[in-house]
Amino acid sequence: MNDRWFSKAVVYCLDIDTFADSNGDGIGDIPGLIGRLDYLARLGVTCLWLHPVHPSPGRDDGYDVTDFYNVDPRFGTLGDFAELLHQAGDRGIRVIIDLVVNHTSDQHPWFQSARSSPDSPYRDWYVWSDTEPSDRHQGMVFPGEQHETWSYDRRAKAWYYHRFYRFQPDLDIRNEQVRAELKKIMSFWLQLGVAGFRMDAVPFIIEHTTPGQPSSPKDFDVLTDLRQHVQWRRGDAVLLAEANVEPDELVDYFADAGGSANRLHMLFDFMLNGRLLLALARQDPEPVIEALRDTPALPAGASWATFLRNHDEIDLSRLTAAQREEVYAQFGPEEHMRLYGRGIRRRLAPMLGNDRRRIELAYSLQFTLRGTPVLRYGEEIGMGEDLSLDGREAIRTPMQWSSLRNAGFSTADPADLVRPIIDDDEYGYGTVNVTAQRRDRGSLLGWFERMIRTLREAPEVGAGSCTHVDVPTPPGILVHRADDHSGTMLFLHNLGTEPATVDLGDLYDDAELPTEVLADQDYPPVGKLDALDLDGFGYRWIRLRLNSHHSPITGSTSGM
Ligand code: GLC
Ligand code: CA
Repeated sequence: MNDRWFSKAVVYCLDIDTFADSNGDGIGDIPGLIGRLDYLARLGVTCLWLHPVHPSPGRDDGYDVTDFYNVDPRFGTLGDFAELLHQAGDRGIRVIIDLVVNHTSDQHPWFQSARSSPDSPYRDWYVWSDTEPSDRHQGMVFPGEQHETWSYDRRAKAWYYHRFYRFQPDLDIRNEQVRAELKKIMSFWLQLGVAGFRMDAVPFIIEHTTPGQPSSPKDFDVLTDLRQHVQWRRGDAVLLAEANVEPDELVDYFADAGGSANRLHMLFDFMLNGRLLLALARQDPEPVIEALRDTPALPAGASWATFLRNHDEIDLSRLTAAQREEVYAQFGPEEHMRLYGRGIRRRLAPMLGNDRRRIELAYSLQFTLRGTPVLRYGEEIGMGEDLSLDGREAIRTPMQWSSLRNAGFSTADPADLVRPIIDDDEYGYGTVNVTAQRRDRGSLLGWFERMIRTLREAPEVGAGSCTHVDVPTPPGILVHRADDHSGTMLFLHNLGTEPATVDLGDLYDDAELPTEVLADQDYPPVGKLDALDLDGFGYRWIRLRLNSHHSPITGSTSGM
C-alpha cells in the first residue's frame, strides 16, 4: 500500500537557482540539479519540494509568476523539467513544486491586460476598487518592506488589492474563470509528472476580498473543489499547504464541517516550529509537550509537515511577545538578524552556535515528532547565513559543494553569481562543504544520512501516533514515543547541558528486546530501561517493539 506516501516521506526543499549551475552562467539550473540527484538519493530524501520554477521577474525569488505553464528560461526548458521528473523517479524521489496562485506578478500578461481597460477579459481576474479603500494600510504581510495592501494603478485608474508586495496583485477566487484556470494549471503539472504541490499562501487564496473590509470571509469549499480535481487527475497527488493561522482555524483547511478530510492533505506545522525554537532557546521541552497536547487532532488521512528552517524567516508570530523575546535573546540577539518584527533570518547552525551536538539534537527532535520532516538544502552540512544580504536572501546563498572556486556551485565569474557564496572562516565554503564531509564519516552530513536511513526503517515514526511519555524526568528531558501497527519507538532528548539518568523501567513490559538504533554516542546497553544515561544535548532512539507480521527481522537492530 503506497497511498499515503507523503506521510512517510522525507522532504528536501531547494531553490533551483542556488543549487547547482551546469552551464556556467552563475545561476543554478535544472541540468545542474539532475547532476546532484545521486547526492540527494544517498542522503535518503524521498521527495523534493522545488521553490517556484516558473518564469518570473524575480522580485520575490520567483513568488511572482508571469507564466504558470513554463519553467524559468534561466533554469532550462520544460524538456529539462520532464527529464528531471524522470531521473528523480528513477531514484525513488518524487517532486512537488510551489504553486503560487494567490497572486501573479504585475508583469503577468493577465494583469497587463486587466489594467489596460475595464473591458479587458482579465479585468475581473483581479480585485479592484474605484475609490481608495479605508483599509488600504491594513493586513500587510511584509511590514517595513510593504506599506499598503491596496495600490493605485494609473493605467487602470483604479485601486488593486495585493496581500503581499505591490508587484503581486491578488487573483479573485470568486471568479469562476480563475478557478477553472487554477485547475488547468494543476492538471498541466500533474500530467507532466509532479507528485503534488506546495500551495503558497492558502488563507489568502480563499479570501473574498471587499474594499474597506479588512477581515474577509474565507471560502473553504474552494479547497474541497481543488482537492477533488487533483485527485481525479492523479490519485496519489498531494497538496501540502502553507497556512500560518490560529490553531482553532486549522481544521477547516483539512476537512469540511462534516469532518471528512477532503481538503488539503498536509499543512506545515508553524505552531510547532515556534515551540521548537522556544524549547531549544529555553533548553526546556515544555513548549513542545504543550504543542503535542494542544494541536487539534487531525482527521484520518491528514498529516503535518514539520520543519526547523525553510526559505523564509523563522516566523515567531504565534508565540507571545515575551516568548518571542526569549527566542530573540538566544538566537537573534542583534537587530539585523530579525525581520518584519516577528522573525529571524538565520540558519540553524549559527543560531545554535555551530555546536554540533546541539544541531544533531535539534534535528533528531524534529525528525522524530509527528508528521513528515522537511529539510532545507544546506542544513545537512551546517551552512551559515550572510546577513549582509537583504531580508530573506540571507539564507538563500548557493549550496556549498566543495572548496573549489565558487564552492563548486558554478564556474562563472564570482561577480556573475546569482548570490555571493559564503566565505567567512567558520561557515565559508573552504570549511563547510559536501566534498569534505563526504570524506569524513563523522561529519554532520554523514550523521544526516544515518539518521534519515534509520528513520526510514521506522515506519511508525511520523505516520504513527506520537505521544509524550509523561514520567518524572530531570529538567531539560523530553521522552516521547511513536506507535503504529508496525511497532514502537521510544525517544529521549536532552535539551539541556546537564547529563542525566532517566528511569523508564515501567515501559519495559511493553518491550520485546529493547534495542538502541541511533544515539549521540555509545551508551551502555539499554537493559531494563530503568537507568538510561543521557549526556547534555544527547538523544537516544530505542526500538521497543517490532511487530512480528510487519517484518521477518523481528528484534533486528539494523540501522546503526
Ligand atoms: C509565501 C512564501 C514567501 C513568499 C510569499 C508570497 O509566504 O513562503 O516566500 O514571499 O508567499 O508569495
Ligand atoms: Ca545556469
